[in-house]
Amino acid sequence: MSLSYQEGRLFLGASGDLQEIMEGNEGHPCYVYDLNDIRSRYEKLCEALGGLQNLKVHYALKANGNPQVLQHFKSMGSCVDVVSAGEMTLALKNGFIAKDVIFSGVAKSVQEINAAIDAGIKQINVESPQELRRIGELAKAKGQSMLVALRMNPEVNPVTHPYITTGMSENKFGMDRSFIPELVRILKEFPESLKLRGLTMHIGSQLLDLDAMEEAIHKLRSIDHELEVLGFPTESLDIGGGVGIHYDSLDYEKDFSLIKDYGAMVEKSLKDYDGEVMIEPGRVLVGRAGVLLCQVEYIKRTPYKTFAIVNTGMHHLMRPALYQANHRILPLLKSEAAPQKIYDLVGPICESTDFLGKNRPMQELKQGDFLAICDAGAYGFSMANNYNHHALPQEIILD
Ligand SMILES: Cc1ncc(COP(=O)(O)O)c(C=O)c1O
Repeated sequence: MSLSYQEGRLFLGASGDLQEIMEGNEGHPCYVYDLNDIRSRYEKLCEALGGLQNLKVHYALKANGNPQVLQHFKSMGSCVDVVSAGEMTLALKNGFIAKDVIFSGVAKSVQEINAAIDAGIKQINVESPQELRRIGELAKAKGQSMLVALRMNPEVNPVTHPYITTGMSENKFGMDRSFIPELVRILKEFPESLKLRGLTMHIGSQLLDLDAMEEAIHKLRSIDHELEVLGFPTESLDIGGGVGIHYDSLDYEKDFSLIKDYGAMVEKSLKDYDGEVMIEPGRVLVGRAGVLLCQVEYIKRTPYKTFAIVNTGMHHLMRPALYQANHRILPLLKSEAAPQKIYDLVGPICESTDFLGKNRPMQELKQGDFLAICDAGAYGFSMANNYNHHALPQEIILD
């Protein structure tokens, strides 16, 4: 059910009275997460893909690495996708076993690859021929065999913010199809230490249109066929994450219908693939389940603008500054009687990019009011930092 007003008070889930939480927290900024919302989205996603015999969900930990959130994913049967040795350690500390873990990312160091080999994870998603060779050499030195998947760049143009496309030819991610002969040569050079498990891709994030993903899956299948002909049949295809949420709307049904469309498209594209189908969803599972709460410190009126200056900002939620993202912002106590005003909601950081929303019509605000920045469960706390030496926000879990 996510966010709703009950008698003028904003609730997250059925029981998360956000005003009460902020009063108890003395107005300090905090993220609040609703585990029930995560569960219901996880179940909807699995249901939408229910026609696939051999599906594995690898939750993209980078979206939200809160320990309780991770334990929750494990308890629901999810596996995990990590992009650093730090994330791998976090996953292993919070209930995941090594065979639940796949390791993506373009810049894996010698230490990180050694740690993945030693832990015995399920697969490393390889992003360059140089990385494949490095894994081969390190596994050989240990007398071990490492399972790898080749991350391909399918050269498609998804409809999303340019900073979150990852499957276009200009992006650093994945490998061009023309790399295949070189990759095959390296695989043949290390027959004992490199085992090709499959192919992988991730074309971008916050996708509300699925056409580019469908096209990319078809390209991946064609590369899969090419490898089979070359004597390297795969046992898994990993199509990455990317399904978006409707940040601009409180109508959660729009998210659910996108999940259904995604399931139908993936099933249609991969029903006849007889290996394991893997997905790496992040945002679609946790984005709606979190809010960032803050307090108004000052209302500053200039001849041009009215600023609501709050005690959180780009250091706690980077998405507006980084991707021009629009998060809905709601008062924790709704007043029908209050007049509507237009605000720029800004934070304490000494940067002009430190805004949470611009030109927002809102009920009249005053010093001390509490606000919720909505749909902040994904890429919120996980990107937070203490720039200007501010403290990190707390994280509070509703179960
Ligand atoms: C390799 C990889 N997989 C999965 C994801 C998760 O993406 P999303 O949160 O859009 O589902 C990302 C996000 O950037 C990624 O880089």
